[in-house]
Amino acid sequence: MKKNIIPAVLLTIMIACNPKHADKDAMIDKKVDSVLSKMTLEEKIGQMNQYSVQWNPTGPVSIRKNDLDDIKHGKVGSMLNCTGIEYATRYQKMAVDSSRLHIPMIFGYDVIHGYKTTFPIPLATACSWDMELIEKGERVSATEAAADGVNWTFAPMVDIAHDARWGRVIEGAGEDPFLGSQIAAARVRGFQGKDLADTNSIVACIKHFAAYGAPEGGRDYNTVDMSERMLREIYLPPYKAAVDAGAGTVMSSFNEISGIPTTSDKWLLTDLLKKEWGFKGFVVSDWGSVGEIINHGVAENREEAAMLSANAGLDMEMESGTYRDYLAILVKSGKVSEHVIDDAVRRILRIKFKLGLFDNPYRFMNPERKKKIIFCKEHLEVARDAARKSIVLLKNDKSLLPLSKKIKSIVVIGPLGESARDMLGNWEASGDPSRVITLVAGLQNNLGNKVKIKYIKGCDVKGNNKAEFPQAIAAARKADVVLLAMGEKASMSGENQSRAFLNIPGVQEDLMKKIVETGKPVVLLLFNGRPLTINWEKENIPAILECWFPGIEAGNAIADVLFGDYNPSAKLVITFPYTVGQVPIYYNHKNSGKPYIKGFQWGSRYNDVTNEPLYCFGYGLSYTHFDYSGITLRDTVISMKDTLQVSVEIKNTGHYEGEEIAQLYIRDLVASVTRPVKELKGFQKIMLKPGESKHVKFAVTENDLRFWNKDMKFVAEPGKFQVFVGTNSQNVKESEFWLK
Ligand code: GLC
Repeated sequence: MKKNIIPAVLLTIMIACNPKHADKDAMIDKKVDSVLSKMTLEEKIGQMNQYSVQWNPTGPVSIRKNDLDDIKHGKVGSMLNCTGIEYATRYQKMAVDSSRLHIPMIFGYDVIHGYKTTFPIPLATACSWDMELIEKGERVSATEAAADGVNWTFAPMVDIAHDARWGRVIEGAGEDPFLGSQIAAARVRGFQGKDLADTNSIVACIKHFAAYGAPEGGRDYNTVDMSERMLREIYLPPYKAAVDAGAGTVMSSFNEISGIPTTSDKWLLTDLLKKEWGFKGFVVSDWGSVGEIINHGVAENREEAAMLSANAGLDMEMESGTYRDYLAILVKSGKVSEHVIDDAVRRILRIKFKLGLFDNPYRFMNPERKKKIIFCKEHLEVARDAARKSIVLLKNDKSLLPLSKKIKSIVVIGPLGESARDMLGNWEASGDPSRVITLVAGLQNNLGNKVKIKYIKGCDVKGNNKAEFPQAIAAARKADVVLLAMGEKASMSGENQSRAFLNIPGVQEDLMKKIVETGKPVVLLLFNGRPLTINWEKENIPAILECWFPGIEAGNAIADVLFGDYNPSAKLVITFPYTVGQVPIYYNHKNSGKPYIKGFQWGSRYNDVTNEPLYCFGYGLSYTHFDYSGITLRDTVISMKDTLQVSVEIKNTGHYEGEEIAQLYIRDLVASVTRPVKELKGFQKIMLKPGESKHVKFAVTENDLRFWNKDMKFVAEPGKFQVFVGTNSQNVKESEFWLK
């Protein structure tokens, strides 16, 4: 067959001219500069102004009369909360058709854990420790959002949190910077795909920059005060990982850090984010946080708030309107240089070009695509798999679980047994409760009519009404198994939902005590957005599954786990306190000068409770059992250039095939500053059949041992280290090595 060989020189020219190979960024920058050069100061400032639609606010609404006029005059660069093709098209047409330069708007929305097909809350999927699964879930979410007018998500939220009182632990990946960094990058990859110009890609937004997860008292929005070392060691790594993964935008946070509101913190937004980290995207404020600089007491008025924020490197203002009202005056008075404006606008236009909005402002508004993909079978299956892999088996005495499908009758008792809305969690965005598979529905789907399933609410989540107790107790007595569906309402976690106590609220625990007294086999299914102090439950209920808020496929996923169609593999990414009085409590704590030693009088401890958590970081059981051999080190002394080869043999000694998340921790025993007693530096999720064993290997390099030393240099220091490998942060095998 005649081969049509393309002359090499022609091939070279084709490759060189192919936009895929040429420096697309340089080409985009040329287009950006071309548009920028035509813009008036007012038009530039317009790009830096973002409005929420007033009919779907996600913050305190500021009533405005001229939104549509402002859009038509190019005074609005972005809108948020404008879901749906119809509205997005209408507003985009106003901006593109009526404004002088026809610059398209970018539409942002909180696609936090799903767009229409709702996934488990992010804290739940983080417990899967499965980066591929997490990325896949965000890909599904981006695909659905990108068909319905949304091209920018205000996610991933990557705030490290040590305090379960803070309602927004629900949105993050828990307490560990290493795991949090991997999850942050996976979520960015999922949202943005390989190229922002791809059909199913939307631009990510790393939030809330920075250290929003460390408010004093666990009270949302409250003061954050910490050393730069703590900031860089614990709180910044996930943001940095997300920037390195190519996230296109960052959102500043409501809080201050050590006296400076982040929204006007030049060191944070410009010196660190844009210069030290090389971030090329743009920074948007959180809802009204520019205006809130006045409440912080750092700006006298809105004009000063605008000046401080613009000069700090805050590129786009969400909702507070100070840029719209004062930036032109500030530029004309020389208080803000037009170079600052140009840099902000360049960053914003760059993202709009990367998204293809200038080529086709309506490419994200595709009714056919929307109809075909939203709630499609494949997406629901991914959501179900994510939910299965997010459920943590906390207790399973006498292997009560998995349940046999031969049982004759089940009674579900508890206020969350048939709640569809709560399964979607707090940031349900465009999720649809009517599409949720509740716990009871999931049981029916799994068991068909072979098993009699009865549901009794028994009590509310809150309140002290015990009127239904007798009915619930009577039903329990007649059933083979009792499933307790207890916990929090979705509205009890999330933004502005901090709690001072971490117990299961209302009279749910009173009801559980009555049910346990019947002597029937009882399984507790926990639905919650934060760690809870389930001390009585841990002592008295034989089996406990932490289900979190599992999303649209809740009931199906829980039934899969309950009946062994899936063997639970998830592990906690945040410590469950023994009592709220221990908070903040986290595994990677320092040793202190008087570490607590059991039996020794002097030590950092309480005189009324233990130091130990209820459940530690990395904890999670399986229906099978995994045995770890001792650690084998290829070398016990390594140089800065070497790699420490660590291996353990893990054997499935139980009766079920299952996945185990093996975790590797290190401890730097002596350094120029105090170091944590453990730090996660690696993990591997492996599947083992009954009786099967595998050698799991980890490689530790000098880079893994680096920290911010006493001179604030990010280095590894020679010395003795411990290395740990195990099934959670407490149950580990240990060894030691030297770094020379
Ligand atoms: C809210 C939240 C932020 C969200 C934004 C837009 O106040 O703090 O996480 O992305 O406003 O809805």
